[in-house]
Amino acid sequence: MNHFVIRHPLILHKLTILRDKSTGPKEFRELVREITMLMTYEATRHITIHEKVVETPLEKCKGYEIDDKSVVVVPILRAGLGMLDGFLQLLPNASVGYVGLYRDEETKSPIEYYMKFPKIHDNTEVFVLDPMLATGNSSSKAVELVKENGGKKITMLSVLAAPEGLNVLELSHPDLTIYTGSVDKRLNANAYIIPGLGDAGDRLYRTK
Ligand code: URA
Repeated sequence: MNHFVIRHPLILHKLTILRDKSTGPKEFRELVREITMLMTYEATRHITIHEKVVETPLEKCKGYEIDDKSVVVVPILRAGLGMLDGFLQLLPNASVGYVGLYRDEETKSPIEYYMKFPKIHDNTEVFVLDPMLATGNSSSKAVELVKENGGKKITMLSVLAAPEGLNVLELSHPDLTIYTGSVDKRLNANAYIIPGLGDAGDRLYRTK
């Protein structure tokens, strides 16, 4: 598995404000969107570009275009939705698929409650979004569903990750590429990332 931690001053700075328990939902949402844009910049380095001729006011020259119509982005509901806007700001023609998973609080296993994918071809670049890669069970399940629907080139974007979750993904999807803003210390007994930032869904949508 390819795993990249993006240690960029802008991400480190924004992550620190994001972690702060006094950061309110408006700023939290803005930061998740901005961090996602910065992560998307890094995570799309490998996508295909095509040459195209562009006519400047002075002469024709060689330019490039990305084929973002062959990109599919899959936020894992619900916290992954907080990352969708930032991703689409950079790749506005990407198609969006959704995976709805919630965590059974006793078993910590992911339960699927919604799934809708656009067409995924062999060469489609699929980006799965989940701000918190904690146990890795939801991400692993989402990647499994993407694969079942034809996904071959899959990249995961997580704002924060726990070592435990990375190990789970390494075992379940060794072909996956993952970008994170930080690998934190560990999970606590409730499977929250320590130090983390709390419950990303609750902080995005002020549900607690
Ligand atoms: N999901 C969250 O939102 N936060 C965690 O720390 C773990 C899972």
